[in-house]
Amino acid sequence: MKIILGVTGSVAAFKALELGRIFIKNQIDVIPVLTKNSLYFVGKDSFESLLKTECYIEMFSKNILQKEPIHLKILRDADAIVVAPCTANMIGKFANGIADDLLSTILLSTKVQVFIAPAMHEDLWDSEAVQENVKKLKKRGVIFIGPEKGELSDLKIGKGRMSEPEKIFKEVYEFLKLREKFKNKKLLLTFGRTEEDIDSVRVITNRSSGKMGKAIFDTAFKMGFEISVIKGKTDFEFDFKRLKEVRTSYEMFETIKNEFIEFKPDVFIMNAAVSDFIPHLKEKEKIKKDKEIEIFLNKNIDILKEISKYKENTIFVGFALEDKDIFENAKKKLIEKNLDIIVLNTPEALSSEFTKIWILNKKGEIKEFPLLSKKEASLKIFEEIINVL
Ligand code: CTP
Repeated sequence: MKIILGVTGSVAAFKALELGRIFIKNQIDVIPVLTKNSLYFVGKDSFESLLKTECYIEMFSKNILQKEPIHLKILRDADAIVVAPCTANMIGKFANGIADDLLSTILLSTKVQVFIAPAMHEDLWDSEAVQENVKKLKKRGVIFIGPEKGELSDLKIGKGRMSEPEKIFKEVYEFLKLREKFKNKKLLLTFGRTEEDIDSVRVITNRSSGKMGKAIFDTAFKMGFEISVIKGKTDFEFDFKRLKEVRTSYEMFETIKNEFIEFKPDVFIMNAAVSDFIPHLKEKEKIKKDKEIEIFLNKNIDILKEISKYKENTIFVGFALEDKDIFENAKKKLIEKNLDIIVLNTPEALSSEFTKIWILNKKGEIKEFPLLSKKEASLKIFEEIINVL
């Protein structure tokens, strides 16, 4: 395994040496990338002698004649990037697409998971601009570790201290272990809502935004899964090389069946919000408004239940959206749909950036989590998948 360790200009830069050493002791290769400002606090030689590897600072200079741009060479085979300490300046550049040195160019070019351990004075951390940038990056899936409350550089107590190297290591290591397990495994993922036609223009649907599914996709992609996506309607644009877009539950069912045979997933996550009811008699033309009408809704098929009859070795993960008797109902769905894991959530999660989840497994265990971003929640789901693998 290999990580890129970004170091920026903060007094906490010396702690990056310790962090790098912990990674190396745990058999993880470290490529240090230092910003010029970090050199006010630590030296290139310290990194090279303590981490026993070449350290990168310049974007051009000696590397200008190389065939491959230096940032791409550094990124090759990297499993994650950790920027510790990370200044307000680097957070701002990353959030706003500025690539004016080696580290910021690497950050903008990468598709691997980025961890940021901020270090700055509390006034800076609390500023509106920094908080907006942090929010932007979190939304893009960047994981923040800290900052912590403690003694700051001016001896005042406040929030802004970089987390201790041991804590940063543990969080990144957890992710790397998951990635090691899941790299090149196959995931079939569905998300988005279905639409059922009433007539040629009207549909019945639901309020699912697809954001949870997108968060699962982002996490799975960073873990190195080979992914196939089957997507209903979502509140955002989404594109991917193995993507099948569907509209009705019938199309979704047929597409899942085919993809199951063709793709042979190791893990199947059914996050799509499928309509439970379909209009009994679909009108071919637009119904005129000159009279009142009644629409009779038939019960739809349960896709997950049908597909799970053929599950064999695939791990099945379903969702349960409940607002009463939540545990009883979720347990019932886990059994009836023959699932390995069910993620229980409540209607508050619809369209939100955050979700309160419980994860239930076949062993009868129930794990409760605090309110999490959908990205954090998706990590918890993959941690649970490891337990049942
Ligand atoms: N699901 C499905 N086919 C349906 C309805 C739901 O495959 N026709 C899947 C969902 O994708 C989800 C799980 O089943 O993973 C549970 O969905 P949920 O809406 O919570 O429950 P339902 O089974 O639809 O039951 P109810 O609406 O009565 O709670």
